[in-house]
Amino acid sequence: MAEKTGILGYDYVEFYVGSAKMWAYWHARAMGMNIVGYLGPETGVKDRVSYYLEKNNFRLLITAAVKPSAFEITSFVTKHGDGVKRWSLKVKDVKTTFEAALKNGAIPERNPKRFEDENGYVEEAAIKLYDDAEIVFVNRDNYKGIFKPGFGKPIQKFEITAEETGLQAVDHIVGNVRVNEMNLWANYINTSLNFETFIDFGPGDISTKYSALLSKVVRSKEGASVKNPINEPYEGVKKSQIEEFIQEYLGSGIQHIAVATNDIIKTIAAMRKNGVEFLSVPDTYYDLLKERGFEVTEDIDELKKYGILCDTEGKGYLLQLFTKPIGDRPTFFYEIIQRRKGAQGFGQGNFQALFESIERDQALRGNLDRDEE
Ligand code: FE2
Repeated sequence: MAEKTGILGYDYVEFYVGSAKMWAYWHARAMGMNIVGYLGPETGVKDRVSYYLEKNNFRLLITAAVKPSAFEITSFVTKHGDGVKRWSLKVKDVKTTFEAALKNGAIPERNPKRFEDENGYVEEAAIKLYDDAEIVFVNRDNYKGIFKPGFGKPIQKFEITAEETGLQAVDHIVGNVRVNEMNLWANYINTSLNFETFIDFGPGDISTKYSALLSKVVRSKEGASVKNPINEPYEGVKKSQIEEFIQEYLGSGIQHIAVATNDIIKTIAAMRKNGVEFLSVPDTYYDLLKERGFEVTEDIDELKKYGILCDTEGKGYLLQLFTKPIGDRPTFFYEIIQRRKGAQGFGQGNFQALFESIERDQALRGNLDRDEE
């Protein structure tokens, strides 16, 4: 019997990047986030800078090295490019969760630690995830300052005008792993965190004419809405998008974060105005959607206008759309998602149209055909 872990939900996600100021600016301008906190030389930390951003319950930390001595950051960025270093789970009690996770088989990364100043304290611990990624356990209930001790207000006044995106919170976080790693990491998360496998796509379930993948979704059993799909490449005629990710990221890592909204039409309209580029599907996608006659509250022509995808599931449905990779490497991207009438899935019905769209971009990068042996 696995130990209960007291996980309450997602907290923040931290990126390691080449320039935190540029990434913070992009998230403020494109995603409509607020730059709330800052840590760096001006606040007494000499070798790195971090910006803390929020939009409702969607929280990001964006960190870059400013000295080569911040080796953990420089080596990550040199190898993987800009990417997600860690995602965090809010827990009732950090020490209890960490000890339970270790008892269940988790690999420790950092022991529980209390960060304290005149505004109170924050507790954190971390366990290992694939390659250089980590899962953090955090509790910030006893802290009244900005984010965490060490942070102050941003030094630079970012006077950024952006359309209101209405982004709400992380819905799910997805990892791409090497061949034969999916079961290993799904089992690791399930046993360590008392999660369960919720969806399992085997050979042939997700494939286009050219490429294929395997996917497992693990989720928390303790009532919290934490869901983590894990993808692995599967043999196909050409190189799958998962293979491309692993090749370009130089290993396993976080592929995308899905951010929830309560009004996806408004969110996508705002993000498009803010300059975000999304994957596109052919117009015939919407003809098929109309033909199916599934009842959706939204006007299908409006969904078509903004390129929003719709997948049905029992009585529920979900609306979603994926950005193109946001950095220089074709690795990390965002998904925007709105769940309707209790839909729990991940847009399986959209995979075909989407993967064909991704393959068109892969071909442009010269990453669809396999290298000559
Ligand atoms: Fe997703």
